[in-house]
Amino acid sequence: METEHRVQIGDSRSLDELKPNSVDLVVTSPPYPMIEMWDELFCSLDPQIEAHLEAGDGRAAFEAMHGVLDAAWAELQGVLVDGGIACINVGDATRRVDGSFRRYQNHSRIVSAFDSLGFEPLPSILWRKPTNSATKFMGSGMLPPNAYPTLEHEHILVFRNGSDKRSFEPNADRRYSAAYFWEERNRWFSDLWTEITGRSQQLTGGESRERSGAYPFVIPYRLISMYSVYGDTVLDPFWGTGTTTLAAMAAGRHSVGKELDSGFRTAFDQRVDSIPSITDEVISRRLSAHIDFVSDRRADGETFEYEAENYAFPVMTKQERSIELYGIEEIEYGEQSYRLTHTPVGADWQTTVGFEAEETRKNR
Ligand SMILES: C[S@@+](CC[C@H](N)C(=O)[O-])C[C@H]1O[C@@H](n2cnc3c(N)ncnc32)[C@H](O)[C@@H]1O
Repeated sequence: METEHRVQIGDSRSLDELKPNSVDLVVTSPPYPMIEMWDELFCSLDPQIEAHLEAGDGRAAFEAMHGVLDAAWAELQGVLVDGGIACINVGDATRRVDGSFRRYQNHSRIVSAFDSLGFEPLPSILWRKPTNSATKFMGSGMLPPNAYPTLEHEHILVFRNGSDKRSFEPNADRRYSAAYFWEERNRWFSDLWTEITGRSQQLTGGESRERSGAYPFVIPYRLISMYSVYGDTVLDPFWGTGTTTLAAMAAGRHSVGKELDSGFRTAFDQRVDSIPSITDEVISRRLSAHIDFVSDRRADGETFEYEAENYAFPVMTKQERSIELYGIEEIEYGEQSYRLTHTPVGADWQTTVGFEAEETRKNR
């Protein structure tokens, strides 16, 4: 299997270079309105924003920043297939403007924007960010009533393009081999993800990650596994350090990214170098966790009705039988794109990608 990954430098308020219906899934995280690290960028995209901030008009600045994002959301509709899913990761902001402290609800403003464009809002996910700073609490210490809870979660908003689900040919192999395990379904399709830890140690590019507000690799990897199949193309219109592209590479999907700041592009090749070993690590963790699940259930006296076709273990349901995971065999580095060759990780996966000792897994 081969996949292609393209990166475009430019403004996502126009996606004219992409063909209509050429994207099956959008996974992205925009700059967050009213978070100070993004003020300069928003002001450069709409000079009115600076005037609003200087005038101390937080509401108008918030609305104008969302106006910039609205233009990018409107572009998604034409490039996304009917029934294609868009996953938008965003956090709310708290800020004092002109003496008044308040919350700016980015998540609800984005839901309204997608709703008015004709996307169907679907159940969304909250994930808890790891924060343990002693200075995280805001407001007047131990004295009621003017202290505020810390915002320690972000939203993954999920939308469908139109009211109909995507259709596939009957028994589509690429859909069945992209299935996830039953026990993964039970964790991934919860609306609260509490076990998200930091970024993969292997993903380099520390300074640009700080500058970009990169999300942990596991977020786009899960979303891509949940909402796309092999052969699909994933778009990230706010590409940053390219975490979505790396996750698409590991998951064996095609990808397209667009980013304003050309600086991120140069650091990306280094991150791509580590993706074959990250992919092996992810696959090993998923398959090893499934083996644990099987032995735990067997220890509880449960039996399994189905056998996996490509691995020497059973699965819970008929739908999981064709599951097949792919490692990365080769990467061709191009000017604006990467071409990857993927090979199935078969029944001998324990020797090719490595079996993780239970102790190691439990300590993660
Ligand atoms: C929150 S960051 C994305 C981080 C990314 N998910 C990652 O893991 O690295 C938002 C990115 O969007 C880019 N950006 C902002 N406005 C843009 C626009 N109109 N078109 C393209 N990229 C834009 C910013 O330069 C920034 O890198």
